[in-house]
Amino acid sequence: RRVAILISGGGSNMVELVRSMTGDHPARPVLVASNDPAAAGLARAAELGVPTAAVDHRAFKGDRAAFEAALLDPLLAARPDIICLAGFMRILTPDFVRRFEGRMLNIHPSLLPKYPGLHTHARALEAGDREAGATVHLVTSVLDDGPILGQARVPVQPGDTAATLAARVLKAEHRLYPAALRRFAGGDASRLDL
Ligand code: GRF
Repeated sequence: RRVAILISGGGSNMVELVRSMTGDHPARPVLVASNDPAAAGLARAAELGVPTAAVDHRAFKGDRAAFEAALLDPLLAARPDIICLAGFMRILTPDFVRRFEGRMLNIHPSLLPKYPGLHTHARALEAGDREAGATVHLVTSVLDDGPILGQARVPVQPGDTAATLAARVLKAEHRLYPAALRRFAGGDASRLDL
């Protein structure tokens, strides 16, 4: 199975995914693409030997469809079977999602369906939640919705800030996403709970 990974920033989840796809893993990374040419994750992907592409969404002044058309060029050229959104911060149009529906995964830093959207850790703290975590789900045209493939739970500690909770959740993401991708790439869409 050929996996393309979309990033927007540091790409720590991408690094864990790429590092996991070795040996008897049913998938291999074929492309890392970003909407930001300055994304630090692009250099990390290159260091790991994965081909990269960057399409600057700012060059398309809010024309989402035009940006996606440009992104589709390198993306389709890589002939991906599976797309992993990993810290990808652009909302995709229903047309783009439809092209890959059922084989496009995303990781979101909350225990969906709680806290779709942004600032998930601050919202969990605000709500006084005792636990938080991350979710890997199939992408549909509804933001942060779609069938859940896996979740990882972490405790909220006294004195947690959004930053300390985010760091704890990010570590859980780095365990969850590779495990969820390995299952999915092996044809098993059963839910994984860590
Ligand atoms: C992090 O906030 C993570 O929780 C979310 O995307 C952001 C960047 O992740 N999934 P990464 O280091 O670029 O993978």
